[in-house]
Parts: sequence; C-alpha cells; structure tokens
Amino acid sequence: MKKIAVKASKPYEVLIEQGIIKNCGKLISDVTKTRFAAIVTDDIVDSIYSDTVISSLEESGFRVVKFVFKNGEPSKCSETLNRIYDFLAENNITRSDCLIALGGGVVGDITGYAAATYLRGLGFIQIPTTLLAQIDSSVGGKTAIDLPCGKNLVGAFKQPELVICDPLTLKTLSPETVSDGMAEAIKYGMIRSSELFGIIASHSIENYFDVIDDIIFRCVSIKRDIVENDEFDKGERMLLNFGHTLGHAVESFYNYTKYTHGNAVAVGMHMITEQAVKHGDCEKSALEKLDAVISSYKLPLVTDAPVSELISLCSNDKKCESSNINAIICSDTGISSIRKMPFDEFRKYMEA
Ligand SMILES: NC(=O)c1ccc[n+]([C@@H]2O[C@H](COP(=O)([O-])OP(=O)(O)OC[C@H]3O[C@@H](n4cnc5c(N)ncnc54)[C@H](O)[C@@H]3O)[C@@H](O)[C@H]2O)c1
Ligand SMILES: [Zn+2]
Repeated sequence: MKKIAVKASKPYEVLIEQGIIKNCGKLISDVTKTRFAAIVTDDIVDSIYSDTVISSLEESGFRVVKFVFKNGEPSKCSETLNRIYDFLAENNITRSDCLIALGGGVVGDITGYAAATYLRGLGFIQIPTTLLAQIDSSVGGKTAIDLPCGKNLVGAFKQPELVICDPLTLKTLSPETVSDGMAEAIKYGMIRSSELFGIIASHSIENYFDVIDDIIFRCVSIKRDIVENDEFDKGERMLLNFGHTLGHAVESFYNYTKYTHGNAVAVGMHMITEQAVKHGDCEKSALEKLDAVISSYKLPLVTDAPVSELISLCSNDKKCESSNINAIICSDTGISSIRKMPFDEFRKYMEA
C-alpha cells in the first residue's frame, strides 16, 4: 500500500492500493472511535460499490446508513445539500459519527461541505472513485456546492480524516471520464514534474492502467506539497490553476454543455502554452510534448470559441482579482510560475 501523509491544519493520510475498498471498514475504524457511519453516494457509484463498502464496514462493527442522489454536476446544489442535512438529522448523526463520501468529485465536494457545516462540523472520509477525485478533488480540503449563477460559489475548507483510494474502481469508468481526469494528471506533470509528465507521455488512454498507482501517487504527492505550503489558496496553490482560467472560460462559453472540465482544461493548457512559446516564455519542444500527450489521451487542443470572448470570460474567474489576472505559465515540462498581470496585458498576451 502507498501512503501519503498530508500535514494540513488537521493531518490525514491518503492510502492508495488496488482492491483497498474491500478493507475500508478496518481502515476507517482505525481513524474514528464511532461505529456509526453515514455514506453519501450517487446512483451509479451506489449500484457498483456500495455493497462492498457496506459489507466491509459491517464486518468492522459499523452500523451503516446511506444517502443516494442522482449522479451528475446538477446535483451539486443546495437542494441536494438540504436533503443530506435532513438525512443526517433523521438518522441522529452526532458530531462524533462519521460521514463517508463514496464517489467522484461531485459526491466528495457536496459531502465535504455537509461535513463542514452540519452541527458546525463533523469528521468525514473520502473514498474517491474517479481519476479526478483520486488525484485532485479528494485532497486539499476544498468543498463546495454550485449556485444557479455559478459553480463552486458556496464552500468551505474542510480536511478529510482519511482518503481511501482504490485504483481498481477506475476500471468501471467510461473512457471519457478517465480522459477527463487525465487532463489534471497532465497538469501536475506540466507544473511540477517532468518525470511524471514522462510517465504519462509514454502511455496512452489504452494502457494508462499499467502505471496508474504510480501516476496517482505522484499527482497526490504534488498536490500535497502545494496545499501544505498554501492550504488557504493565497499563493502557490494558484499553480494548480494551470489551464484552468481559460478552461473555465471554455466551459462557461458553451454553458457547461459541450466541454467537460478536463476537456476544457486541456484546451486551456494548450492555449496558454502556445502563447507562451510565441512570447519566448516556453520551449517549443515543451508545447509539442504537451500537445502530443493531450492527443494521446483523446483530449482536445482547440475550440471554436473566439479567443476574444474567452478572454472576456476570464475576467469573471473566481481566481482573478479585480483588474489583475494570475496567469500560470510553464517554461518547460515540470516548470511553472505565477505571472500576475493587468487584465489588458493578459488580453494582449493571449491575442498576440
Ligand atoms: N474540491 C476540489 O478541490 C475539486 C477539484 C477539482 C474538481 N472538483 C469538483 O469535482 C467535480 C467533478 O468530479 P468528477 O469528474 O469526479 O465528476 P462526478 O463526480 O460527476 O463523476 C463523473 C461520473 O462518473 C460516475 N462514476 C464515479 N465513479 C465511478 C466509477 N468508479 N465507475 C463508474 N462510474 C463512476 C459518476 O456517477 C458520474 O456520473 C466537479 O464538481 C468539480 O467542481 C473539486
Ligand atoms: Zn480542474
């Protein structure tokens, strides 16, 4: 088993092993005194993994209750959140009991936010089942729900007590969902590790599973290092936003219908790096490598959306302070920096 210790304001471990989900009861009983667990999951994950998780919890002496909501981003809303609060209240969950988020980033984000707020906070455990959730959303303590006027607008920093990562669960994902998560893995390689980038680049969507444990371990380690230095997102954590400012603009331009998050981030990484090459800020060979790896994971490089409109949408990005934008630029694979520039300069940079 691979273990990564995260020293956040509240320390916790990320455990990575194929098949580990079968032993989750024992692992959870090691980090909590309670023997009452409430699982929150979505309908698809429920149909594949709940039985295994519940059996393991029961074997370790847990009484288990479960709340299931419809899969998909539209469920990450206040209505589902209120239903989770009602479910917790109806089952008399106390502050010493534990909540378990079983699923992708949607389940993790909304369950984490419920854990941050219900009874002013109770412990929660992440069992992420998508690649994105395993390498990104389950680590770092950001939780949120969406509002009708924007994504992730209501949230809290809430660290989990434990993250149980079973790469075997990725076997039941659609190839599109794997590609989506892989965009984030490529991002980690670009911003921090040419070695990770090389491992990803020497595989493809066909055979990535051969090295999946290593990819997850390396991605989580990078995220751990970055969030340990900047838990509350005031500086270095912005590096994780590589490809995201433009990516969010692409998602938003198409009203979150045409591009999934990972697809939009792939486009965003290509766009900013292409401009960086034009300005002499990035090696041309790095752009070529980035483009090749994006394509080998069946992710897009370009979009039909006009650049000028995408740039205008960037000013609405949460990560953008009033008139400045923090552009994340990679000078080579594995090397990134934050370049704070006035919005007008960013427009010129992107339109050159
Ligand atoms: N908190 C953070 O730091 C952070 C970081 C990045 C993204 N996010 C959030 O994560 C969310 C996206 O997460 P996601 O991409 O995991 O989406 P998701 O949770 O919607 O999962 C994608 C789909 O895969 C299904 N699924 C999940 N696990 C499965 C499995 N093992 N087998 C088969 N199907 C499975 C789900 O039912 C869903 O239909 C967004 O809401 C985003 O805002 C949060
Ligand atoms: Zn992302």
